Amino acid sequence: MCGIVGYLGPSQNSVQIVLEGLKRLEYRGYDSAGVSFIDEHNQMQNFKKAGKLENLKSELVGKNLVARTCIGHTRWATHGGVTDNNAHPHSNDILSIIHNGIIENAHDLKSQLEKEGVVFKSETDSESFLELVTFELRKGMPIAQAISQSFKKIHGNSSFVVLYPKTGEIYAIKRGAPLVAGINDVTSEALVSSDPYALAGMVHKLYFPEDEVLLHLSAGNHHLINFYELDLTKTKRYLSKKQDLSVQVSEKGEFEHFMLKEIHEQPELIRGLTQYYFGGEGYESLTRVAKLKPMRILVSACGTAAYAGMVAKDFFEGLNRIPTIVELASEFRYRNPIIQANDLGLFVSQSGETADTLAAQAMCKKAGIQTVSIVNVEGSTLFRDCDENLLIRAGVEIGVASTKAFTQQVLTARLLAAALSGKLDDADYRVKLAGKFSLLAERIDQLLANIDNIKNIAESIYHKKGFFYTGRGVYFPIALEGALKLKEIAYVHAEGYAAGELKHGPIALIDEDIVNIAIIAPDLYEKTISNVQENKARKGIIVGIGQLGDKEGTRLSDYYIGVDFKGLDELAPLYINVVNQLLAYYMAKFKGTDIDKPRNLAKSVTVE
Ligand code: G6P
Repeated sequence: MCGIVGYLGPSQNSVQIVLEGLKRLEYRGYDSAGVSFIDEHNQMQNFKKAGKLENLKSELVGKNLVARTCIGHTRWATHGGVTDNNAHPHSNDILSIIHNGIIENAHDLKSQLEKEGVVFKSETDSESFLELVTFELRKGMPIAQAISQSFKKIHGNSSFVVLYPKTGEIYAIKRGAPLVAGINDVTSEALVSSDPYALAGMVHKLYFPEDEVLLHLSAGNHHLINFYELDLTKTKRYLSKKQDLSVQVSEKGEFEHFMLKEIHEQPELIRGLTQYYFGGEGYESLTRVAKLKPMRILVSACGTAAYAGMVAKDFFEGLNRIPTIVELASEFRYRNPIIQANDLGLFVSQSGETADTLAAQAMCKKAGIQTVSIVNVEGSTLFRDCDENLLIRAGVEIGVASTKAFTQQVLTARLLAAALSGKLDDADYRVKLAGKFSLLAERIDQLLANIDNIKNIAESIYHKKGFFYTGRGVYFPIALEGALKLKEIAYVHAEGYAAGELKHGPIALIDEDIVNIAIIAPDLYEKTISNVQENKARKGIIVGIGQLGDKEGTRLSDYYIGVDFKGLDELAPLYINVVNQLLAYYMAKFKGTDIDKPRNLAKSVTVE
């Protein structure tokens, strides 16, 4: 979703600093970018462009960028098309603002302001906040009060950063949307952003404000940042934390895309996760969660993380016999779900900022049950809001299509299942489970060293009309995730289906231009083979993914990917998932799409 960065400090390079922050947020997906800054003559300058950050940078070439205060934005369109005009910042002669989120009552606010003579320049909801604050200022209200009063009038989840050229100061505020501030007290710089990653290496200390806390960034402030309630009394409603994210702004290295790099990182990350939870700090957090002894587990998540939750359900029910309900967070939050005492709310998320997942967590918290996250970003909103957190330790994931996070989420859930079974203290059990993790890492290493078959198959099928990924049991979520990956990055129609369900409708679509990517796992082998036969009989193109050397699977398939399931047991679905990640990656590559930043998608969906 939208990226936000604001800088205030002694450096005259504020525009470059903000652009660097925005660059780090590029991976989240956006369609336009812009900056506002106060130049050396105390004049506010605004530049914004539809398209990539590079377009904005070209626009800035040759301009005098000497400025101590700057705010910048990457936009992911919600209200209004992708145009220069709709890009942020939105500004007038006295104010400039950037916004992430949705103002649900923008239409009403705009109509009211239009009656007062305000003329809007864009189609965005965001501009209504600009004009609301401006309206109050023109009436003589002081800036902080104008912002807090205006903020009270808007509905929905949003974060805003406001640049006030009259004083050269920055204000920021949020409700249900990510916002983080940071300071470098050696250099007296203060920054604000929608993502701590943008501030890595620039600040020593991070501040995560709670909802409806007004931040005031000012060079004149003793503290650089002051925090206020909406009635402008001082507040301590924020969490502060040492900034320990490394600046290691990911490089692609030898890889053509971040997605491919992240697929290749998986074996090492699996090994790291094993160490963290079996030998390191993670062990404590697992045992604390296990002590909650839930009667049921309610899993809520979105996208890839929801599919990871479906695999987790198989662990909790299969290994622990704990009834587990997995729901898309966007459905759960509006469905009046049954939440009972002794239920555990489990939230799976890479970013920890997905609006629907956060809302589901808030509902569970309100219902009085314990909430636990399986999350990648430490310090994210989800991380802060949950009672306990299980980190997946995937490092920064840049590719919009999630790959390594899925693997780490599922493995973390497997570790939680181990903890819930009470066997985590049993050394033999630990050795056995760690051995399985290590075998998985090894098999993925082998797979990655021999990708020619997958690449060739991708080249033969990428232009086909549609794709059905099929699997049974725990391979069903893997089929769903495989189809999602292909849709996301190759822009072709793909569906994940439970293999036995195809005949209840979708089989009508099967013909010689439709591919069935069939996971032929050892579990329910014969039944799966029958399902494949049904598709073959209708001239579907079969890509079988099954046990190496399986004659029947190979015979039935037009293309066959042989893998070794042995010894992996319940972790085998993750191995197959890597095959699907590679298939999607290479199909997209043959199609020539923008793999790391697919059209219309955002890495972190902070609006519902
Ligand atoms: C977006 C991303 C998906 C991701 C989903 C959930 O739609 O494009 O890749 O799976 O959000 O994100 P989360 O950060 O909560 O895992």
